[in-house]
Amino acid sequence: MEDQAEKLREIVRQKNGEGETSPGEGKPDQRSAAPTGNPSVKDAAPAYRNAASPQRSSGGKTRIITVTSGKGGVGKTNLSVNMALAYARLGKKVIVMDADLGLANVNVMLNMIPKYNLYHVIRKQKTMKEILVDTDYGISIVAGASGFSKIANLTEDERMNFIEELNTLTTADIIIIDTSAGVSSNVLDFIAAADDAVIITTPEPTAITDAYGIIKIIATEYDSLNMGLKLVVNRVKSAAEAKKVADRMTNIAGQFLNLKVDYLGFIYNDDVVSQAVLRQRPFMVIDPKCKASLCVQHIVQRMDRSELRETGGFSSMMKRLFSRN
Ligand SMILES: Nc1ncnc2c1ncn2[C@@H]1O[C@H](COP(=O)(O)OP(=O)(O)O)[C@@H](O)[C@H]1O
Ligand SMILES: [Mg+2]
Repeated sequence: MEDQAEKLREIVRQKNGEGETSPGEGKPDQRSAAPTGNPSVKDAAPAYRNAASPQRSSGGKTRIITVTSGKGGVGKTNLSVNMALAYARLGKKVIVMDADLGLANVNVMLNMIPKYNLYHVIRKQKTMKEILVDTDYGISIVAGASGFSKIANLTEDERMNFIEELNTLTTADIIIIDTSAGVSSNVLDFIAAADDAVIITTPEPTAITDAYGIIKIIATEYDSLNMGLKLVVNRVKSAAEAKKVADRMTNIAGQFLNLKVDYLGFIYNDDVVSQAVLRQRPFMVIDPKCKASLCVQHIVQRMDRSELRETGGFSSMMKRLFSRN
């Protein structure tokens, strides 16, 4: 345990720029995903060429965002992937990590069959960089491990290795982690590690109840929670409907849990979304001007405006993950 503690401190020191000449230098494998060459993502390409360069726009810190929900099927994967695309349009280098280890659907949504996934990293057969794959859309993905749900049962050693592997992804501006619904301990780990936890719900009463349930568990599990908890209401008919749901949730969280939940925005119920899922292409690509796409771009703009707090970024993620044990 002492050794692992020192190892982590070392990683944190390096990320803080101590003991390293410049970020990324001296690490031959620091190179990240190659440009995709897709003309539609030309804007995002320069950020890909040299991920460790000062072009990184988030002030040198990797922002880690988890997308989670109480209930399944409310739009986590769609939000994760399309938010990533909206960020890429802002010139950010983005990685989507599929941590829904039961049903690996980020790659299905993108019509990709990656050869390796998180399972191979956890089992130390591959490095995170080796399993990172480019998409045609200017974002990279880390595929989930279909049918493999043992991340919750990682040994201390595997867990440390996994954290170190995560560290190699910090050449990205943004890492969006698509988690599974509900509250397994791996989901909580990812949430604890994130700078922002985005909770998504639909106006359905069951989805709202379950979303409140997960907020409550997050609140009780982490009393000194130091992250932005953010709410997205998906599949709404109107902005007013979304606002009503959001008001209810933020009020209850404030009143009963003493927890601040920011209302980040809503996404219209939009047929383009289901069509896009069927065609295995992101709706932001199928129609960047459809109602859902405009909503997601709005959400990302708000997210981008909300400051990554001083303590945020990868170093604090390490500390938070580390302090859980
Ligand atoms: N804004 C939306 N408008 C219409 N349908 C949607 C919308 N968001 C999600 N859906 C539908 O819900 C399904 C589940 O979405 P998905 O992102 O896979 O949810 P989750 O990852 O939470 O399980 C999609 O396949 C799509 O058909
Ligand atoms: Mg999903």
